[in-house]
Amino acid sequence: MPGEGVPMRIGLIGTGRIGTFHSAALVGHPGVDSLVVADVDTARAADLAARVGAEAAPSVDALFAAGTAGSGVDALVVTAATSAHAELIGRAARAGLPVFCEKPIALDLPGTLAALAEVEAAGTVLQLGFQRRFDAGYAAAREAVRAGRLGRLHTVRAMTSDPAPPPAAYLPLSGGLYRDCLVHDFDILRWVTGREVVEVYAVGSDAGPAMFREAGDVDTAAVLLTLDDGTLATATATRCNGAGYDVRMELAGEDDQLAVGVNDRTPLTSAEPDGPPAPEKPWPGFLERFAPAYEAELAAFVEVVRGERTNPCDGHEALHALRIAEACERSRAERRPVRLAEIDGG
Ligand SMILES: NC(=O)c1ccc[n+]([C@@H]2O[C@H](COP(=O)([O-])OP(=O)(O)OC[C@H]3O[C@@H](n4cnc5c(N)ncnc54)[C@H](O)[C@@H]3O)[C@@H](O)[C@H]2O)c1
Repeated sequence: MPGEGVPMRIGLIGTGRIGTFHSAALVGHPGVDSLVVADVDTARAADLAARVGAEAAPSVDALFAAGTAGSGVDALVVTAATSAHAELIGRAARAGLPVFCEKPIALDLPGTLAALAEVEAAGTVLQLGFQRRFDAGYAAAREAVRAGRLGRLHTVRAMTSDPAPPPAAYLPLSGGLYRDCLVHDFDILRWVTGREVVEVYAVGSDAGPAMFREAGDVDTAAVLLTLDDGTLATATATRCNGAGYDVRMELAGEDDQLAVGVNDRTPLTSAEPDGPPAPEKPWPGFLERFAPAYEAELAAFVEVVRGERTNPCDGHEALHALRIAEACERSRAERRPVRLAEIDGG
């Protein structure tokens, strides 16, 4: 385990959209001395390495071969496609390496539980990429709730609206809107309120682009969640929000209410004649909206690897969020409220 001032070498697997962003952040981090990247698409890995000033491993296996703790890399960052996460987490655990992995661990509960078991058996670190936990607005909301500044919390409204649908080929690999997208809202709802979800009622609409119907997915979803202290929450998501990338949370209590994600870049126009002006630069996507949060979660991982802080988002946190998404899929399919106690892994 490298401490402060001891050189740290990180390996990153998966050099697509989020891997590109994380690579640049890691290269720019003062605590990271070198970064080696790998991808099944070796040309893509080489190209990214050249652009950000990292090294490219000739293959994922080569990165692991050099990656036994104490010799090659000190830690791994997994930003590969979702289908590869569980296996890479297991390999990292068996190599004794701390790993940061993008959400989700796996798209199903058995895969998630198996990966968690490997990490537990190895006694290694697994930090999950729920970056909203590092967003200044969500952190301030959590503090306000915990300090009692809103009074008794009774209502929470969470939302994630993507500006445009992903490529059609992505949909069958995504796990669907609840597991892929709303899972962030489920995690942050638990984190901000400090409460557990006990029941969900989920509906979805596939009335938009045909590719969602063809994939058995929905383009828009709404969930009613009951928390264990009786607080009611709603979470909505859509892939079709032409106004921009809109991620918000409103928290209402007996004394006050608070909104996360409301500023001059919120892609929302007031219908009031005397309302605030329409945003000039609405958020275009997640990389812009959450850039500081992505950097902060990786900086936290570096501190975790050095043993300077506890893990801010371990694998069990991801399991909780996935169980809520699973309950939503069951609720949508069976058109009924689903208790979390019905879902395995609790
Ligand atoms: N936290 C967030 O806000 C956030 C945002 C975007 C993506 N993600 C997650 O990050 C992951 C990657 O998403 P993306 O948008 O960057 O995808 P992407 O398709 O742009 O990139 C994925 C990369 O992984 C590579 N890859 C696939 N299988 C591999 C394997 N077995 N070994 C090594 N490389 C492999 C692909 O060749 C590709 O380069 C997904 O799991 C996604 O859920 C999280």
